[in-house]
Parts: sequence; C-alpha cells; structure tokens
Amino acid sequence: MTEHTPKQNTDVDSTRRQFLKKIGLGAVAGGMAAPLLDDARAATTAHKVKCRTLGKTGLQISEIGIGGHSWAYKRVPDGKGGLRRPTVDEAVRMIGKAIDMGVNFLDSCTALEESSTPGEALKRMGARDKVLVSIRVSHKMKGIKADKQEIYKWTEDRLKLWQTDYVDFCLLCNTENDTPQSGYWDMSYSIEALDKLKQQGKIRFTGFGCHFTPELFLQAFDKFGDYFDTCSMPYNIRHRAAEKILPAARKKGLGVITIKPFSRGALLKDRDLKGAYAGLPRDMISFVLENKHVDICTCGVHTIEQTVENLSASWTKLSPSGRERLKEIAGTCVTDREYAWLERDWRCA
Ligand SMILES: NC(=O)c1ccc[n+]([C@@H]2O[C@H](COP(=O)([O-])OP(=O)(O)OC[C@H]3O[C@@H](n4cnc5c(N)ncnc54)[C@H](OP(=O)(O)O)[C@@H]3O)[C@@H](O)[C@H]2O)c1
Repeated sequence: MTEHTPKQNTDVDSTRRQFLKKIGLGAVAGGMAAPLLDDARAATTAHKVKCRTLGKTGLQISEIGIGGHSWAYKRVPDGKGGLRRPTVDEAVRMIGKAIDMGVNFLDSCTALEESSTPGEALKRMGARDKVLVSIRVSHKMKGIKADKQEIYKWTEDRLKLWQTDYVDFCLLCNTENDTPQSGYWDMSYSIEALDKLKQQGKIRFTGFGCHFTPELFLQAFDKFGDYFDTCSMPYNIRHRAAEKILPAARKKGLGVITIKPFSRGALLKDRDLKGAYAGLPRDMISFVLENKHVDICTCGVHTIEQTVENLSASWTKLSPSGRERLKEIAGTCVTDREYAWLERDWRCA
C-alpha cells in the first residue's frame, strides 16, 4: 500500500505533481481543466479499488462507491458565473472511469436526477450488469398500511429512472423532519412492501438508514435487524458516532454502507486542495475505510478528478502526518444549517 505524506506549503507545486502522479493523473499535472477530463478518463492505473463482503448479503462490494447527491446538486461551474448539474456525458466519464477502477456500487437518494442521470449513463455504456444499484425510498414509516403504497410508488418511479427491471438495494430512509415523535418508527408495513417487491424480482436486498439518530439505529438493529440486509449511516473524521453503533450492526450481520465522508464537502471548504491540503479528501476516505466494520464508503463527486482521487484511498495508507492533518479537520465545525442534524446527532465517538 502506498503511503502519502502531506507537505506544508514549501513545495506546493511539486506536492501537487507527485499527488496527481500517484492517483494516475501525473501526465496532466499543471494542465488545463478540459484536457484533465479527457486524460483522466483515458488514464489507466495499476491499482483497483478493493472489495469487501457486504455483511449477510455475501456480495463482494467495492469498498468505495459513488453517486447520489452529486448528480442532483448544482456544483459544476457553468462558465457563466453560475453552477449547473453534471451532464449525462460527464456522468458517463465519471462512472466509466470508476467502473474501470473497480467500483461496483452506485448510490442514489431521493432527488430524481440521482437516478435519471446515472440510469441514462449506464444505458449508454451498456453497463447495468457491471454495477450494484442502490435506491433510497423516503417515506415517513408511520406504521400504517399506506406506507406500502408509498414504497411501491417510489420504487416503480426509480426503476423507470434507472432504466432497469430491478435494483440491487432498496433502502428505507426518512427525512430530518420525520421525527420519532411523529410515529414513523414502525417499519412493519414497510417490510411487507419490501417482501412483495423481492418476490416480484424488483429488488434484491434491503436496508435502512439516513437521518435516524444513533439511538434509533440501535433500536432498529434490535427490532428489525434480523430482517434487513444492510444499514447506512454518516461517518467521517468529525462525525464519528457510528463507531459506537457499528458493532451492534455487525452482530446482526448487516452490511454497512457509510455516507458523507466529507459532510457534503463542508469539511473541505476553504482548504487549498491543490496545495497544502492536496490529498485530504483521499485521506478522509482512508480514515473511514480503516474501520473494520465499514464495508463501503460512498461519496459524492462531480468531477473525474474528484472521482479518481477518492478511489485512490483504497490503496493509500494514511501517513502519520496525514493523520495529524485529519485531527485538524475533526475540529472543523459544520455550520451549514442543512447539516445541523450531523453536528447534533453524529458528532461524538
Ligand atoms: N438520504 C440518504 O440516505 C443519504 C443522505 C445523504 C447522503 N447520501 C449518500 O451518501 C453519499 C455521499 O453523500 P454526499 O454526496 O452528500 O456527501 P460527501 O460525499 O460527504 O460530499 C460530497 C462533496 O464533497 C466534495 N468532494 C468530493 N470529493 C472531492 C475531492 N476529491 N476534492 C474536493 N471536493 C470533493 C464535492 O463538493 P463540491 O460539490 O462542493 O465540490 C462533493 O459534492 C452519496 O452517495 C449520497 O447519495 C444518502
């Protein structure tokens, strides 16, 4: 495994060059943005993302996955001073490169583009059978029969958007506003719906996650852990509460899919990722992967450079100085109100 030691400012340019070389972009270090895209897509690297066994599913899953919010959020400069979503062409390049590098897991959450963009990209590449596709159906889990109809509808809609007859994972999730007090915490009817979808061959494996608090995860492991195949929760260098509950997930044999390695980018904000902080995102994923209870860390990306860098965490061991740098990042308060739930519920180890 390669070890990367970050340098502080002294030779930023050469650090950047060495870093790009390591992740397979060396030939284009210092180049313009557009050639970077083409060269990176074409670049071959000697390394592949490693696989882990996803809990009781027994599936071999790449330890890093991509997708989700990246396809829905406007984060790509549009050249006119604004931002836009990644195009399908860009998704083809990113997903194509990720598959070349060994990724076999594509995530999607609630927004429609999170399914439609990668769905169209996979169709163009003829690559549906090369990846495991995950959808998240968001409903309130009110413990009423209508929950079932909501799940059928969400699933049917997403099957269409992904342009597929089946998905590999269907994860139940809620939104931040659906609190335990609102009575969502009964998944019995949701489970009935998932069983039917399995019988119909529309979904293969099940899971739950998202905005549950760590305490509610523990309750869910207890009450429903025997039924589900996987669970999904946030985990990064600052929000480490997962460490407390992962052993309980393991006892139930649940596959563990972690999300938000960068708190949606908030932990990277205002850092010079081309200079002194080069390689930081990769190190943050390496940190997540060090936890033996994690099967896969899934991250959002909106450029091919980000994709390649993040995947390089699979073969880059954290150096002592990289670890020191992560301690600094752990002290970064996430002030974005949208992620108040991360700071409130997932902060402590
Ligand atoms: N409801 C749910 O169950 C749920 C909830 C949340 C997330 N998820 C899933 O979890 C996964 C990750 O979540 P997320 O995308 O919100 O958070 P994330 O992976 O923590 O952050 C992604 C953002 O980090 C930045 N980034 C990524 N790689 C980078 C790199 N190498 N260099 C610089 N910046 C980099 C980008 O921000 P910029 O755009 O600013 O460049 C990117 O949009 C997704 O697959 C998502 O679908 C699921």
